[in-house]
Amino acid sequence: MSEDSPVVSFEKVMVHYKDGAPILSDISLSFKKKSFSFITGASGAGKTTFMRLLYAGIKPSSGKLTVFGKDISSISGDELCRLRQKIGVVFQDFNLLNYLTVLENVALPLKVIGEPIDSRLVQAKEILDWVGLGNCFNAYPDTLSGGQKQRIAIARAVITRPEILLADEPTGNVDDQIANKLMNLFSGMYKMGTCVIIATHSRRFVESFNYGELHIENGKIIRKR
Ligand SMILES: Nc1ncnc2c1ncn2[C@@H]1O[C@H](COP(=O)(O)OP(=O)(O)O)[C@@H](O)[C@H]1O
Ligand SMILES: [Mg+2]
Repeated sequence: MSEDSPVVSFEKVMVHYKDGAPILSDISLSFKKKSFSFITGASGAGKTTFMRLLYAGIKPSSGKLTVFGKDISSISGDELCRLRQKIGVVFQDFNLLNYLTVLENVALPLKVIGEPIDSRLVQAKEILDWVGLGNCFNAYPDTLSGGQKQRIAIARAVITRPEILLADEPTGNVDDQIANKLMNLFSGMYKMGTCVIIATHSRRFVESFNYGELHIENGKIIRKR
């Protein structure tokens, strides 16, 4: 794929949950490889819903969404597994596995792609050291703070160097110093060619960086920059 070809493309996408009113409607936009976008909007605007679409956690109620050229409404289970291997996701509620240690959680995506165990553990330790969790390898996630869980979730999402990185409120539970460090990590991934998409309700955070912003309001998405 060239730097200009979209990795994600929305055409007139609408989403509603069950029989409810539309949460997002008439969404037409695309994301390129090597791009950095903030998704902004008030609490309840639909940021998490938008992120769910991007990893095919939900499907459009109508319209067409393609990710790496695959229409996610008609994708097979195998194709979806392969597609998700190229997408790193930091969930708003972390989605860590409490029966695995911190180290095992972070190394798990490398296991899925068939990396040998020694290499998995070396890489997982390296990234955990970098996010300041070098002393928690053998802890279980449910014994740690929100900010620590968030950094574990981020380490797990970036360890495979995914082509798309999605992060839903990734700096919500950490102090400013760690937030800056995490932003440097995301910026670095963007500069290496990743399509980085970050949902946040923090204006201050968005305004600190000169990156694209898509704003959700009343179910529509407006490009602010
Ligand atoms: N699984 C769900 N079932 C029904 N309604 C939902 C579900 N998830 C979110 N919603 C509703 O969709 C709207 C947007 O929610 P969400 O995408 O979580 O917003 P944000 O992340 O911007 O706070 C809210 O009104 C929320 O109550
Ligand atoms: Mg949300």
